[in-house]
Amino acid sequence: MKIILLGPPGAGKGTQAKSISNRYSIPHISTGDIFRKNISENTPLGVEAKKYIDNGQLVPDSVTIDMVKDRLQHDDCKKGYLLDGFPRTVAQAEALQEFLDSRNEKLDTALCIEVPSEFILERMTGRRVCPSCGASYHIKFNPPAVEGKCDVCGSDVIQRKDDTVDTVKERLDVYERQTQPLIDFYKDKNLLSTVDGTQAINSVFESICKVLGE
Ligand code: AP5
Ligand code: MG
Ligand code: ZN
Repeated sequence: MKIILLGPPGAGKGTQAKSISNRYSIPHISTGDIFRKNISENTPLGVEAKKYIDNGQLVPDSVTIDMVKDRLQHDDCKKGYLLDGFPRTVAQAEALQEFLDSRNEKLDTALCIEVPSEFILERMTGRRVCPSCGASYHIKFNPPAVEGKCDVCGSDVIQRKDDTVDTVKERLDVYERQTQPLIDFYKDKNLLSTVDGTQAINSVFESICKVLGE
């Protein structure tokens, strides 16, 4: 199964991706996570990406497309994959399409988690993430069992640097201008499916399973 997840920042892509990846045994590939790992390891890719991410801007297509193509050629992608946060521009979507065509493969679905912008700010500013294992929480909607500590590995959870009010506003703006056009791109290909992302986390997952044919 090959799935891409669409939706604004804070829609719950990462949250749902973990469950989808477990249920369907496909790797969860998040371009944001790959960039953040590179930033924490101070690699050349991380240094480049940080300039954009900290300001809520997109990392240039020239960097992002090659990075994803490379990742999709790893062995674990043979049985399918779940892309979270890619594609994010029309150029990225076209590059993915070319990559798939060249291998005689196709996407199963582009799944959009719909959440109106008035929900987003509270979700993003309340998000906490584990810097060690990547688990994600929300101080109100999905708090860790012990305040401030990751359920999975016990590390102190932190706030993402780009989850401040100003940067979130910029990311929403970038989403509307650069990523929203992909909804029509996939609608035209008859690949778009949508779920209501304003429901509780487990209800969103149930809706996703229905869409994926369970
Ligand atoms: P990325 O990491 O992809 O960030 P994003 O798209 O802005 O999305 P988020 O990760 O912020 O939100 P999410 O939808 O995953 O929500 P989550 O599940 O965490 O990208 C970061 C940056 O990297 C970009 O700005 C860009 O610079 C760069 N980048 C990445 N990909 C790129 C690309 N392809 N091209 C160029 N640049 C790229 O949930 C959010 C919060 O809400 C959490 O606290 C969660 O607990 C809570 N929550 C989730 N679901 C619910 C629910 N149903 N009800 C209540 N709360 C909920
Ligand atoms: Mg995410
Ligand atoms: Zn952890």
